[in-house]
Amino acid sequence: MEKVRMAVIGLKTFGKNAHVKAIVANENAELIAVCDIVEEIAKKVADEYGVPYYTDYKELLKREDLDAITIATPDQVHREIAVCAMEAGKHVLCEKPLALSVEDCRAMIEASRKYERKLMVGQICRLAPSFILAKELIERDEIGEIFFIESEYAHDYAKKVGPNWRFDPKSPRHPVTGGACHAMDLMRWIAGDPTEVFAYGNKKMLAACPTDDCVIAVMKFPNEVLGKMFTSIGCKRRYTMRTCIYGSKGTIIVDNTSADLSLFRAEAMGEEMFSPSIENQAVELKIPVRAVKHNIHDEMRIFVSCIQNGTDPETDGVEGAKTVAACCAIVESTLTGEKVKPDYSFAK
Ligand SMILES: NC(=O)c1ccc[n+]([C@@H]2O[C@H](COP(=O)([O-])OP(=O)(O)OC[C@H]3O[C@@H](n4cnc5c(N)ncnc54)[C@H](O)[C@@H]3O)[C@@H](O)[C@H]2O)c1
Repeated sequence: MEKVRMAVIGLKTFGKNAHVKAIVANENAELIAVCDIVEEIAKKVADEYGVPYYTDYKELLKREDLDAITIATPDQVHREIAVCAMEAGKHVLCEKPLALSVEDCRAMIEASRKYERKLMVGQICRLAPSFILAKELIERDEIGEIFFIESEYAHDYAKKVGPNWRFDPKSPRHPVTGGACHAMDLMRWIAGDPTEVFAYGNKKMLAACPTDDCVIAVMKFPNEVLGKMFTSIGCKRRYTMRTCIYGSKGTIIVDNTSADLSLFRAEAMGEEMFSPSIENQAVELKIPVRAVKHNIHDEMRIFVSCIQNGTDPETDGVEGAKTVAACCAIVESTLTGEKVKPDYSFAK
């Protein structure tokens, strides 16, 4: 099978450190160009990998030998670049969040349908070994019927504050949509699409943030499952996405930064496997797991394989857009003080 010829757009941090490396490491892909509006950044990466560089993505997209692009630019320009790329006949792997509004997501999904190009969003938590294990345990009925799920995006952005796209007052990137889309996507993956949300927000940590920097949201999922999501980009804590899933038979506590997953069970599954427990309480089984936050290599493998085999990625445009829609509903609730039903009207 022929290699997928690819280029990365947006190189400063994630593009260079994750996308470029994952393409180069993939035996079914070939990096044929890179692009960044800042020439110095583009040239440095191009020189390192021996490929040409572009500072205008539209020039890059004219290349007929280019099959696919990955987008690691600021969230605000995901839509523009993705739509132009699909219009030019290229497949697209776009960093999370797919975009910052439902309207932008809709345009991207429409382009993907119209030009019959793959559109995949990098909701990478679905590829973290710890979260994969949590989902497997739930599907094996280890914790019974879920009644409550909570997740969080606790990530101190204090050192990122400055005149950059994350804090642009003219085009705000809300931390719920921009960052906590990870937590929302994880909860949706496990519990389905939230049907209604309600949220409070405040800004007590990052004065330069054009939006709230802390949000607590509660929500309803299908089958009367309840949910809660905590977002903070000013908290004094190590980055974490601690997630708790409560079921009728047990509970899972899991994180993508810990080396184990905790499974609490009401009844023992083999005494010797459990740590000592307090009488009459659920017993805890700690299952070792690889702590991998960004499993970019598997993400790239999936994208490349979908192009080669004509299959669709699980995290396609609609999945990415549903996560954005739920996040936007939370933001709207903080502003209106009302309960909000997410707009999933772009789904077929
Ligand atoms: N999956 C994850 O966990 C994860 C982690 C970090 C960042 N991200 C996402 O990756 C994306 C990039 O984040 P980052 O931290 O690397 O940002 P960054 O600011 O470090 O890099 C963005 C780069 O895009 C370039 N750029 C801006 N507009 C452009 C345009 N029109 N054409 C070409 N290049 C352009 C900038 O010059 C810059 O070099 C964001 O969408 C972010 O949300 C995802």
